Amino acid sequence: MDKVTVSAPGKLLLYGDHAVVYGQPAIVTAIDQRVRLTAKKIPSSELLIDAPDTNVLKYNKKIDELGKNEIPKGVNFIEIAVTNFYKKYHIKTGLHIQTKSQFKSTFGFGSSSAITVCTIKALCLLFNKKLNNKEIFDLCLKTVLEIQGVGSGFDIASAIYGGTIYYIYPGKIIKPLHIQDLNLIIGYTGIKADTATIVKRVAEQKKTFPKLYDDVFLLSGKIVNAAKKEVEKSDFEKIGKLMNLSQGILESIEVSSKILTKLILAARESGAFGAKLSGAGVGDCMIAIAPKEKTKLVEMAVKKAGGQVMKVKINAEGVKIEI
Ligand code: PMV
Repeated sequence: MDKVTVSAPGKLLLYGDHAVVYGQPAIVTAIDQRVRLTAKKIPSSELLIDAPDTNVLKYNKKIDELGKNEIPKGVNFIEIAVTNFYKKYHIKTGLHIQTKSQFKSTFGFGSSSAITVCTIKALCLLFNKKLNNKEIFDLCLKTVLEIQGVGSGFDIASAIYGGTIYYIYPGKIIKPLHIQDLNLIIGYTGIKADTATIVKRVAEQKKTFPKLYDDVFLLSGKIVNAAKKEVEKSDFEKIGKLMNLSQGILESIEVSSKILTKLILAARESGAFGAKLSGAGVGDCMIAIAPKEKTKLVEMAVKKAGGQVMKVKINAEGVKIEI
């Protein structure tokens, strides 16, 4: 095979944000917003990348220099993924990679991890390496940790496996949950949060009260385990109440913000069963679950409070070949 196109889904973290970095469980769902990546073997001995969504066009690097020197932010996940794969299998073939995303990288839907997953999957197909999902996961997690230094890998698992999964770091448990559609309303704050910076900040704060933070994260784990039961039963009201409890935890470790809290309260006050921030916090998105008949009211309230409302479908398929 000389050319292949693959796609992987974005994600929403439903429960367990931050605590998942410290070994507690999380629940993540893949969404119907995807990134696509086409990889093609080329005769010249270089890596060419066109990534219009991150404003990097006609990027090129000699294969012998992969992973070295300055790498633009918009292509570093691709280049490091290629570097790790090429090193592992001693490959030197020239490559052209093009990406296209259905969502902005600023939303916090996990575009970097989805792109990393697409890169490794495409290389497995191009070079006929039969890696199973867990082996793909391990290579992607290595790539992301080399770049970000921190991260639980829940987003990588979601992009690979799709659906909704119960996750424990570092892929110790990746268990599919069979859940019905959830009537989620997403509110984007308009602020791009840098996950690595926020995760490091929480680690710093934890140093002051390490035992207390451990207890807080343990409680987060208990909320996630309770949520696992309720999502499988589709008890939307309890799912919402558990989102509120989860938000309480995230407020306590200071990763919410004025705008997130405003959108979350607007959703709750207009009839949502519950609402919380999703992901690292500070900016990015909040999520709310609402009764079907309250959807419009909640959407309007979130919009009025300053959020950009998005509708997504959950349980999307994991990484796959596109025709
Ligand atoms: O900001 P996002 O969507 O990448 O989510 C970060 C979630 C954290 O738990 C804060 C970090 C992690 O890697 O699990």
